[in-house]
Amino acid sequence: MDAMEAILTRRSIRKFAEGKLPPETVDRLLSAGMAAPSARNAQPWQFVVIDDRPMLIEIAARFPNAEAARYASLGILVCGDLALELSKGYWVIDCAAACQNMLLAAHAMSLGGLWTGVYPRDFRVEGMRELLGIPEHVIPHSLLLFGPPAELPTEVRRFHRDRIHWNRW
Ligand SMILES: Cc1cc2nc3c(=O)[nH]c(=O)nc-3n(C[C@H](O)[C@H](O)[C@H](O)COP(=O)(O)O)c2cc1C
Repeated sequence: MDAMEAILTRRSIRKFAEGKLPPETVDRLLSAGMAAPSARNAQPWQFVVIDDRPMLIEIAARFPNAEAARYASLGILVCGDLALELSKGYWVIDCAAACQNMLLAAHAMSLGGLWTGVYPRDFRVEGMRELLGIPEHVIPHSLLLFGPPAELPTEVRRFHRDRIHWNRW
């Protein structure tokens, strides 16, 4: 699958089939995340990789927006590390770029992926911090879920000419 096809056909997957992901696959996902652009190339991210079933079930129970964690093979909590920040505030955007890279990489490898929001909801940020023992200077940004897909979403078209403004508004 080429990059354009991956971008245009990626969809959120919320139903996963069983199956542990091999360590090489996990590394490929993480290398896609770490290949993302970041402001001043700060790469201000940290990744908590979760493949422990009881922990994934606990996450699903505590965070209804991440209910899909119950059956996911893998969760990756993408975090911003304020100690690595070079341009204040950009860590949020940098982490989002890493998230999207990982979702696209997963899709290109025929894996299902789901982005679940953590930051800026304080109760999720603090809930993840407490559950996973994350230090104060590291901020949970998003929880990504991965696994073999057990649903086949339809392709959507989101190209809208009325959202495009040439040269000026
Ligand atoms: C920042 C962000 C937060 C999201 N949070 C959640 C979430 O908490 N739970 C969930 O099921 N989906 C979540 N999604 C997935 C969106 O609902 C999904 O991307 C959107 O409906 C478009 O569908 P698609 O991904 O299939 O193109 C999130 C997506 C983004 C980008």
